[in-house]
Amino acid sequence: MSKGDLLLKNIGTAQAFPIGFEELEQAVKDKIDIGPYSYVRSGAGGEQSLRNNRDAFHKYSIVPRFLNDVSILDTSIELFGKTHPTPLLFAPVGMNKIAHEDGELAVVRAAMDLQIPYVQSTVSSYSMEQIAETAPHHTKWFQLYWSTNEDISFSMVERAEQAGFEAIVLTIDTVMLGWREHDVRNQFSPLKKGFSRGNYETDPVFMSTLRDDSSEAFIEGLLANIYHPTLSWDNVRELKERTKLPVLLKGILHPEDAKLAIEAGVDGIFVSNHGGRQLDGVVGSLDALPAVVKAVDRRIPVILDGGVYRGIDVLKALALGATAVAIGRPFVYGLAYAGEAGVRQVMQNLYDEFKVSMGLAGVSRVANVCNLTIVKN
Ligand code: FNR
Repeated sequence: MSKGDLLLKNIGTAQAFPIGFEELEQAVKDKIDIGPYSYVRSGAGGEQSLRNNRDAFHKYSIVPRFLNDVSILDTSIELFGKTHPTPLLFAPVGMNKIAHEDGELAVVRAAMDLQIPYVQSTVSSYSMEQIAETAPHHTKWFQLYWSTNEDISFSMVERAEQAGFEAIVLTIDTVMLGWREHDVRNQFSPLKKGFSRGNYETDPVFMSTLRDDSSEAFIEGLLANIYHPTLSWDNVRELKERTKLPVLLKGILHPEDAKLAIEAGVDGIFVSNHGGRQLDGVVGSLDALPAVVKAVDRRIPVILDGGVYRGIDVLKALALGATAVAIGRPFVYGLAYAGEAGVRQVMQNLYDEFKVSMGLAGVSRVANVCNLTIVKN
């Protein structure tokens, strides 16, 4: 398909779907309650980190090359020995039932259709076994929030292995919950409301720790377990020993931490500030990327997330050395707006714009995007 076709196929199709991120965010605001909407949209504190993520993309500009044959665009990438047709991933996002009753099941169905790897959150509304049953042959990774009770962490890792998940993504920036003013103002905690039950109510080790079978005891047990301020490199090394799956760390921003990750035997990293939801006043993830890429020196894959809301953002992240990018809020808004079809539409639009951007920048293969000239304004 030529680039003209990619654009024109969306014109004259009478689709009512909001095309841009800002439009979609507004449409979702009009559609769902303020509690869940703000939970998804907002960042921690005064939202500097959230703004930094977007601002970082605006600081960079591509200098395209022309007169290259871009009739065939190869957007595929390789991760852990598997080829994927796009450089996109679904970032782990918990508690999808706050956006739509079908929650993660709708998301993984769309992911399977588009052949985009799916990363499931620990705090999902549906269990990893339900996800595996819905998309048995699709590439799925499991995101782990370390538990204060290690046995629960390892029980979940073992279940993920058995359910056919292909990697473990340990999130390291959430040893306690960020200071989220909107959630306090709206008195909205999806954790306390039980939207994150999926992987816990099905975990025998977790369930055996509860004082009784009331829902109060369940939430109490969950809140007591989910944060882990003692998380350390020893835990990372232990995790590496306990699983045969590749282990990725999510939340790396400092090049020295990237080096330590490689020393600890980690197989990949996510450069991420958790979508600006954890530490406020933190560097935008794209701003942190170049130094991390330099430190990693192609030894392991580097995935970037945070503020990737357009196809051109994907191109910029790859030009700065990311192996792939993960998408968070856009697909959650798609889910809230139109369920599975909404998720598919958002990700398809992002991908189509990326493909057009790659062709217009004069690059025909993702593998060559890192050679593009990108300047800081
Ligand atoms: C998240 N994120 C997240 N990360 C994680 O490791 N485990 C999780 O359960 C969640 N949950 C979650 C919920 C919601 C509502 C959002 C918006 C985000 C962070 C996510 O994986 C990713 O880092 C960011 O969403 C990327 O930024 P953008 O794409 O949302 O700007």
